[in-house]
Amino acid sequence: MSASLRSAQWYAGADHNAYIHRAWMRRGVPGDFADRPQIAIANTASDLTPCNAHLTEVAQSVKNGVYEAGGIPLELPVVSLGETQVRPTAMLWRNMAALATEEMLRANPIDGVVLLGGCDKTIPALLMAAASVDLPAVVVPGGPMLTGHFRGLPLGCGTDVWRSTEEVRAGRLGEEEFRRTESAMIRGKGHCNTMGTASTMALVAEALGMVLPGLAGTPAPDARLLAAAHESGRFAVELVAEGRAPTSFLTTGSFHNAIVALAAVGGSTNAVVHLLAIAGRLGIDLTLDDFDRVGAGVPLLVNLLPAGAFLMDDFHRAGGFLAVLREVRDLLDPTALTITGRPLVAYLDDAQIWDPVVITPRETPLQPNAGIAVLRGSLAPRGAIVKPAAASPHLLKHRGRAVVFSSIEDLRARIDDPDLDVDEDSVLVLRGCGPKGYPGMPEVSNMPLPRKLLERGVRDMVRVCDGRMSGTAYGTVVLHVTPEAAAGGPLALVRDGDWIDLDVRARRLDLDVSADELADRTVDEATARGYANPRRGWERLYVDHVLQADAGADLDFLVGSSGAEVSRESH
Ligand code: FES
Repeated sequence: MSASLRSAQWYAGADHNAYIHRAWMRRGVPGDFADRPQIAIANTASDLTPCNAHLTEVAQSVKNGVYEAGGIPLELPVVSLGETQVRPTAMLWRNMAALATEEMLRANPIDGVVLLGGCDKTIPALLMAAASVDLPAVVVPGGPMLTGHFRGLPLGCGTDVWRSTEEVRAGRLGEEEFRRTESAMIRGKGHCNTMGTASTMALVAEALGMVLPGLAGTPAPDARLLAAAHESGRFAVELVAEGRAPTSFLTTGSFHNAIVALAAVGGSTNAVVHLLAIAGRLGIDLTLDDFDRVGAGVPLLVNLLPAGAFLMDDFHRAGGFLAVLREVRDLLDPTALTITGRPLVAYLDDAQIWDPVVITPRETPLQPNAGIAVLRGSLAPRGAIVKPAAASPHLLKHRGRAVVFSSIEDLRARIDDPDLDVDEDSVLVLRGCGPKGYPGMPEVSNMPLPRKLLERGVRDMVRVCDGRMSGTAYGTVVLHVTPEAAAGGPLALVRDGDWIDLDVRARRLDLDVSADELADRTVDEATARGYANPRRGWERLYVDHVLQADAGADLDFLVGSSGAEVSRESH
């Protein structure tokens, strides 16, 4: 029995506790199982998380690798979040999934863990858990699905749903045709094939150093994914032997690399909230401003929807993530290590671009500055973000009159009203969608444009919201406005007709209303009525404890780490 293993606290000894711990596990495992590293496979597979359903197969490859290296693989089903299925939004349970995973890893005789995620919130939740329990951990991203086609044209998950929906509303696409694309979009196993949140977080996890380099972005049906899962299982046993837990190698430099990567691939704005939350678990001082500072000057090199034209299997055949990182090598922190103990930059020498249309060389970027811009001003005292790569250049500096929606329901009821007083220069404002106002901070900031403007050919307008936006969405959308309306932010006081000034270059978002007049205003009844006031359960806990977007929307009592120690003796 290796006394150095954490699991020996359960299995070593002759007392009745050790007897019970050992005896109940003897169900076909090797007789010396208690002497070996115990490797959990935290698995987010679920039939209700279609993007992760194939992770059961991936887990089998991980198991084979763990056994091969002399460990004991132990599959641990954890809370799974299917982005398209759970209501009102999967983000409401990201912190719950992180909390439950952290607690179960700590509570069980586990020495290390392989984290299997894919769909948007699953990898962030697993990373938050791993950071807080701080056991040796490696992520295996489930990978994107292959591209589906309809009438010869590729379909981007999510992005083409938004696009087609607008076309239907504009009267350019028949509903029958729209319905027919449905069966072609989801081609098989894997998560969304755009550079949405799932793809982004897989790549970001690798940039942080939590994935075996070169794996993230491998399509779900690709045999190389299973081979890498096998390798990751084997590697997890090594990690335990070396005692390399997340806090031993994740540093500010790791997050620097993640932000560079996020910009270079044109990744999802959701990564901002997730990275802030993960850093918070690690005690790393990451702020919104770091995204602007580090991301500024990082070129956009990946031509993928929603910012570009291609999809994740194109990205993989074009050279993949390491080829992108190689182009921006000088911007990366050369000291930031990966789980292998080697720096991320050590893996870039052999990387190569095979299709310069999909992954562009540094000299010919798709955009010279792809970083996420952080705005401040009288409408967003603690910040708001905008993704210039997904916005219309002519709207990045804009002054327009507010058309205010007090809630999502209000938006739905009135956006297509022919009498709505709106034109293409208006600024659409939606509030009550922040972490507290609409628990989970739903992805509604890319609000639909008024039908009458769509019919006139308008395809983008400035939109301002305290909610999030799907990573597959696009448009000139200012989101994560902080403080949110329900937490007393000035967004709550905007009225129809107020002038709003957006100046992305100057990093400003201002409400052109004097401070005196604003001080005299009160929150109108419809807005206040829209704020969530849950009676009980998780939602109550969430509203009472959730932090604002600039702190990653984690729960206040989950920030930081408790480590792997179990606080009390069992039984
Ligand atoms: Fe799961 Fe998009 S719905 S990744």
